[in-house]
Amino acid sequence: METRFEKKLLCIGAGYVGGPTMAMIAYKCPQYKITVIDINHKRIAEWNSDNLPIYEPGLDEIVKAARGRNLFFSTDVDKAIKESDIIFVSVNTPTKTFGVGAGMAADLQYWEKTARHILQCAESPKIIVEKSTLPVKTALAMERILTSNNNKIHFEVLSNPEFLAEGTAINDLENPDRVLIGSRQTESGIKARDELVEIYANWINKQRIITSDIWSSELSKIVSNAFLAQRISSINSISALCEKTDADINDVARAVGFDSRIGMKFLNASIGFGGSCFKKDILNLVYLCRYYGLNEVADYWDSVVKINDFQKERFVINMLTAMFNTLVNKKICLWGFAFKANTGDTRESPAIYIAKRLIEEKAELVITDPKALERARIDLQNIDANVKYVEDPYEAASGSYAIAIMTEWDLYKNLNYEKIYNSMIKPAFFFDGRNIVDHQRLFEIGFNVFPIGKPALTHF
Ligand code: UDX
Ligand code: UDX
Repeated sequence: METRFEKKLLCIGAGYVGGPTMAMIAYKCPQYKITVIDINHKRIAEWNSDNLPIYEPGLDEIVKAARGRNLFFSTDVDKAIKESDIIFVSVNTPTKTFGVGAGMAADLQYWEKTARHILQCAESPKIIVEKSTLPVKTALAMERILTSNNNKIHFEVLSNPEFLAEGTAINDLENPDRVLIGSRQTESGIKARDELVEIYANWINKQRIITSDIWSSELSKIVSNAFLAQRISSINSISALCEKTDADINDVARAVGFDSRIGMKFLNASIGFGGSCFKKDILNLVYLCRYYGLNEVADYWDSVVKINDFQKERFVINMLTAMFNTLVNKKICLWGFAFKANTGDTRESPAIYIAKRLIEEKAELVITDPKALERARIDLQNIDANVKYVEDPYEAASGSYAIAIMTEWDLYKNLNYEKIYNSMIKPAFFFDGRNIVDHQRLFEIGFNVFPIGKPALTHF
């Protein structure tokens, strides 16, 4: 049975990156055997069930098509390492919470543990592929660990960062802007790189598969995320100015984005960026710059995170000021809790910060979200005595003083706003943290509407 496969690929870490990425390779390449393992047994059981551990549009279909055929989810790490030719590592690299670099640097303990485990189990040469986002020169540390026994087994380390975004992961994996592979510029490095290029070339045009040295590849991933986050902080900083000057952030973004050198994408003003990557990767970049004594460069990137924090706090202050400077015992409804639409993920979601601040102001919160309520309960546990979690947005809004949109779910664009308005306490407030509803229409119904980066529409 086993010999029918051309290659055996293993992925360590069955999270938001490892799971969908390997599912796509398996789906596109039935000639390879793909095993995905994780130390979390519950997660693996979920990957093997009808209820996958993550929500991602289109993921169920590709997992169902490949699972059991050439895609396997397992917890037998040792066996999987022994039999694999190529090992992708996508374990998490959170921000360090202790010791040197706490709150800034990447915590590499899972990485090192994984490298040592590979070394302990391997009986044949392997290509090790860094999928996780890592500080520059991590591959060097990986190589040193893998050669620390001086044994005859050759390990070639490649950097192949993943650029997928949650909510669009399947499309991003199927039609990526680019695939980046960094390798040593040695004969064995180039050979390993070409082997990985051939895997992706099964469905991706070779012109989109770009190669570089390892360090540039590791750095490019962090810089891509830093640039994307910087765009959001740039537009959000201008949204604050628009609110003071009666300019409209959508018009400004449109006018600016029409310049093809700037482009239209990623210019949506919001309550701030969230997600597991942006903040973590920028802090990592800042730490790296400080480490090398580049304090001005570090300060520059640090300001991207500062503006993001400012934007979240500004939203809370706008709510408080509009609602007569007190939120005590007022029922406030948060629409959406995920860090963006089409995912159930709430990691670093701005909604967490905003919810906490509103709780401090003694508001009574009702939180609704089509996919993230379970995560919201965990995020707010121990401080949610005055928080309710309600599936139905109409029921959630009923009897509230204000609605605040946290996540740009399509669902919120076309609700019966007359019905919602009639069920609320007056004056009814609407804070659109994502600028997704028709503000003029809501104003005409009777709401006092507070968009981001646009003049407020109020009846008083
Ligand atoms: C993670 C990192 O956050 C990101 O920086 C990197 O680019 C890719 O990996 P993600 O997949 O979203 O992203 O993380 P997560 O969903 O937490 O998945 C990591 C998985 O690795 C978890 O399921 C965890 O149980 C597993 N893991 C962790 C191991 O299998 N072994 C370990 O030693 C540590
Ligand atoms: C990001 C990168 O896009 C991806 O390439 C990388 O691999 C991982 O990090 P992700 O965090 O999943 O992906 O989602 P993304 O679409 O980038 O959104 C991040 C945050 O920015 C979300 O909170 C989103 O709502 C916010 N955002 C995005 C804005 O506020 N305005 C925008 O115009 C775009």
